[in-house]
Amino acid sequence: MRLKRVEEVRRRHAAAEEGGGADRRKKQHEEGKLAARERIELLLDEGTFEELDKLVRHRCRDFGMEDQIIEGDGFITGYGLLHGRPAYVFAQDFTVFGGSLSETNAKKICKIMDLALKNGAPVIGLNDSGGARIQEGVLSLGGYADIFLRNTLSSGVIPQISAIMGPCAGGAVYSPAITDFVFMVDKTSYMFVTGPDVIKTVTHEDVTKEKLGGAMTHNAVSGVAQFLAADDADCLRLIRKLFEYIPQNNIDPPPMRPTADPIDRMDADLDELVPEESNIPYDIKDVIRRIVDDGAFFEVQEHWARNIVVGFAHMGGKSVGIVANQPAYLAGCLDIDSSTKGARFVRFCDAFNIPILTLEDVPGFLPGTAQEFGGIIRHGAKLLYAYAEATVPKITVITRKAYGGAYCVMGSKHLRCDINLAYPTAEIAVMGAEGAAAIIYRRDLAAAKDKAAVLAEKVAEYKERFANPFIAAEHGFVDDVILPRETRPRVIKALKMLENKVDTMPRKKHGNIPL
Ligand code: HXC
Repeated sequence: MRLKRVEEVRRRHAAAEEGGGADRRKKQHEEGKLAARERIELLLDEGTFEELDKLVRHRCRDFGMEDQIIEGDGFITGYGLLHGRPAYVFAQDFTVFGGSLSETNAKKICKIMDLALKNGAPVIGLNDSGGARIQEGVLSLGGYADIFLRNTLSSGVIPQISAIMGPCAGGAVYSPAITDFVFMVDKTSYMFVTGPDVIKTVTHEDVTKEKLGGAMTHNAVSGVAQFLAADDADCLRLIRKLFEYIPQNNIDPPPMRPTADPIDRMDADLDELVPEESNIPYDIKDVIRRIVDDGAFFEVQEHWARNIVVGFAHMGGKSVGIVANQPAYLAGCLDIDSSTKGARFVRFCDAFNIPILTLEDVPGFLPGTAQEFGGIIRHGAKLLYAYAEATVPKITVITRKAYGGAYCVMGSKHLRCDINLAYPTAEIAVMGAEGAAAIIYRRDLAAAKDKAAVLAEKVAEYKERFANPFIAAEHGFVDDVILPRETRPRVIKALKMLENKVDTMPRKKHGNIPL
């Protein structure tokens, strides 16, 4: 081979690896951020990354860009292994034009997205980008739209994961928004459609970028992000963790995780964990940790809509998605945010063959004008819709309250749940006994001299008659009333029984979930 050519290959590769240069990389490190290549190294199994398009160059010849050509154009794309399974990755290098998206590096991303879709493997995007490359105008915008199209076509076919690892603006936030899970790094990552300066000009609002689009804002306030990481390394570790639970695509089963935790393990303490009094709070995560393999629960969207808990675990080695009302927060009621959160999670599990375990303790939908004006009817319907359309194995355990519409929503038998169990503490009724007695005995109460005594008597009567699991069991709406200690073995047996479940939807182009 001609030496000159070999040198050229080496020179171009070295230039690509240099990116925006040592000074900019140093600045990146000083800000607590890793460089794009360092991130990929930590994300994938050691030494497995194969880069593509390392020698691509941008084609912009305006604004002096012809003198600023960097091999690879600042985006690193390729494939490798994650837990020994193929994964496609792109990482934006903020040291090259602020990680902004050019026509050519949009093509690089599209190339690996197409490969990922054809080969049924996930795409992970490590985003650190100022959005559309301003110097390239519509060519850059077109590049984004090409990516959005692929995000949408891949949705529900392969998992798409976004890590936000720097200031991301404009198009750099809309692609992540279409993906399945968004991870953000505390204090160094931001997401906004328009930044604080533009907001100041247009609406005269003063807002810091941390408050506007920081990691905690999107994890706790907007619900745009699902995971909060302490730093870059923690973020990449969390992504690797997620892949212990989710499959490669919508056909493959999720990964099994062998466990020494006995499948027939009973837990006597569970019998006392759920208080008999329906208004005493408890932490549903204590129940979850006691029934899953090795007490390991990987929570999703921990900081947003905390009245519902969602996340992954293994039971008997099988991956399950858990949806649970949280009595320790807002009494576990359903509201706009918790309905949206639950619905999105149920749909992810359904798309990717992950059985759904529902733990139900819900007093109903949150009353009030804020909720009604905000469209709780529409948003609550999303959760109903998601449960009804899901065809994966569905198991529900009613731990205590299952009142009203919320009974119907949270994985009821009527929404084609496969196995429904209830604890002896379950109260399955149209509403709480106090509210019910006040309505059905309104006339008796109005006529009574000692209203409080009559109300107490009627409440007790209603409780005795309806606030229990037995009427539902008599009708087969719950398959059995079990002791809480039996939960783990009973759920694992049901999961095994449902292993080969096939259920279908009527032929249609797609449904019309109330967005
Ligand atoms: C070209 C860009 C750029 C961009 C940043 N840079 N964004 N170059 N196109 N979009 C360059 C800067 O000029 C600078 O170059 C370097 O990257 C680092 O940027 P700084 O501003 O110094 O960094 P920082 O202070 O950390 O601020 C980061 C930032 C800010 C918040 C992302 O750069 C910013 O606001 N950028 C513009 C964001 C934006 O409006 N993008 C377009 C969105 S519209 P030098 O050489 O000086 O170091 C869009 C359309 C798609 O994306 C919409 C689809 C729905």
